[in-house]
Amino acid sequence: MLDEPPRRKVRFGQSLLVQLVVFCFFRMQYRTVLSKVLKTVPAVSCKNPLGWRQYCYDSRFACVMKILIDRQAQQPIYLQIRDRIHHLIHNGHLSADAQLPSIRSLAQTGKVNKLTVIEAYSVLEADGLVRAKPGAGYFVNSFINSSGQLSVVGETQTTDAEKASSHSHFNPAQEVMMPSQGKHSFPAVYYATLASRGHPDVVDLSRGEPHPFGEDDLRRIARRAMKSSDLFFRQAHPKGDVFLRSQISQILLQQGLDLSPDNLTVTSGSMQALSLLSEHFIAPGDWVIVEAPTYHGFLSVLQQRGAQIIGIPMTPQGMNLDLLEQYLESHRPKLIYTISTLHNPTGITTSLEHRQKLLALAETFDCLVIEDNAYDPLSFGPTPPPIKALDTSDRVIYVGTFSKTLMLGLRVGYMAITGKHNNPLTERKLLHDFHISNASQAIVKEYLASGHYRRRLKHIRTLHRERRDYMLSLLARYCPPAVTWTVPEGGTFLWIQLPRGISVADVSTAAAAQQVLLGSGTAFFPTGQGYPALRLNFSLPSAATERGIRVLGNILQAVRK
Ligand SMILES: Cc1ncc(COP(=O)(O)O)c(C=O)c1O
Repeated sequence: MLDEPPRRKVRFGQSLLVQLVVFCFFRMQYRTVLSKVLKTVPAVSCKNPLGWRQYCYDSRFACVMKILIDRQAQQPIYLQIRDRIHHLIHNGHLSADAQLPSIRSLAQTGKVNKLTVIEAYSVLEADGLVRAKPGAGYFVNSFINSSGQLSVVGETQTTDAEKASSHSHFNPAQEVMMPSQGKHSFPAVYYATLASRGHPDVVDLSRGEPHPFGEDDLRRIARRAMKSSDLFFRQAHPKGDVFLRSQISQILLQQGLDLSPDNLTVTSGSMQALSLLSEHFIAPGDWVIVEAPTYHGFLSVLQQRGAQIIGIPMTPQGMNLDLLEQYLESHRPKLIYTISTLHNPTGITTSLEHRQKLLALAETFDCLVIEDNAYDPLSFGPTPPPIKALDTSDRVIYVGTFSKTLMLGLRVGYMAITGKHNNPLTERKLLHDFHISNASQAIVKEYLASGHYRRRLKHIRTLHRERRDYMLSLLARYCPPAVTWTVPEGGTFLWIQLPRGISVADVSTAAAAQQVLLGSGTAFFPTGQGYPALRLNFSLPSAATERGIRVLGNILQAVRK
């Protein structure tokens, strides 16, 4: 009994020494040891006490490639993997040219299907973050800089389209447009477009959405989404399906806009969002500022509401901010409406600095901003964060849509509202139509969850770049030198400025007689007038574009003589 205490001391001392040695050894060698351990045990997964979370490690990436998979989460697993890798790249843990784990190993360690990993990697590829090297695997893109940010490739590279034309500029002489100068009619334009649809011989360069493609994918996905008939008998929340809203918030996060699904309301196209917003915020006689030119649909909504519309001229950088300031001061408008990315109809994307200044002016004059971002997903390169992402005083309302990227006829758009206006607008939506169709929401949800959306966007961007360049080359070939145009880095339209004195109505009528429909520029000005211009959709197949531009070119050459 008397010997016991010293013996215990020796054991304690020995174990301390052993622990110290083991600690030092691991501190110096942990990477080597860990990787050896992990190589002999390739997949290490552990469940937490609740049993529903799983970490997966890849032996070659033991230090960084720790992916938390939450099998109970609503977010699909491929998006969880995508988000984690995205995070590692943006935090600089995965640097330029680093290799990602092979599909097989990540599928094994994560206990997920290989298709799930492929889906995650394709989405990362579509985001421009990684690239596939045939036979070698996936690598982080080399234009990721040291701070994990994407370099803006489009800013420094000269595109073929730019080389193809010396007419590509935008600098029209233009005055501010006041409501006393006139109005225009969107419904008339809309009915005319409907009437032309379905005529196989008509080349419709006036249409507002990309030329449809990928119908087989869409049909398959729609069939899958319609499997549950329960869908058709259920009432839903006026804000829309919560899972769809969380998918939209994920998409917005990638644009730099961090919003909770609670701040989103799914609407019947973004047009319904614009109508609800004008009903909510604008009383007859209120002043509203828009870009001139701008989206004609919203001009009509405002007109019907009895708003007094001021059109501030667009410059190559966006709305003229000096004039904006002057008119904010003199007229104290309720609202500024801006299309910050790939503006309809000019295709101009404003810089971060322009966005900051516009927001600062809105703050100074206590004015609301509607930011309509219908075309952002169609941008060829990265775009600055939306104005809404810079907003700290809940004055910016953000509007988006799937009409330009999926199917126009589904009528799925959304608005993002933070602060005190969120719930009143949800109630207004409820009183309009309860909620949008469950069937449309289910199709978009299925499309987003399948990963096809990312692939589709990637495909559209590549196709649209080719088709834009093709239209530019045709314009340079067929049009007189006095005609100029913008070169948008995405979207669907070119904005063509005609020499002063040319009647857009005459040119459009002459083209329509030859079965070619041109988007008349006058529709986009709040006064229904403005300088002579055309909005042309460049996303049509090449034969149609060739015929359309040849007809336009011949008419303009004839007018010149
Ligand atoms: C800038 C802009 N906003 C909103 C819309 C309305 O789109 P939708 O109601 O189909 O979502 C359009 C349609 O052309 C548009 O160009």
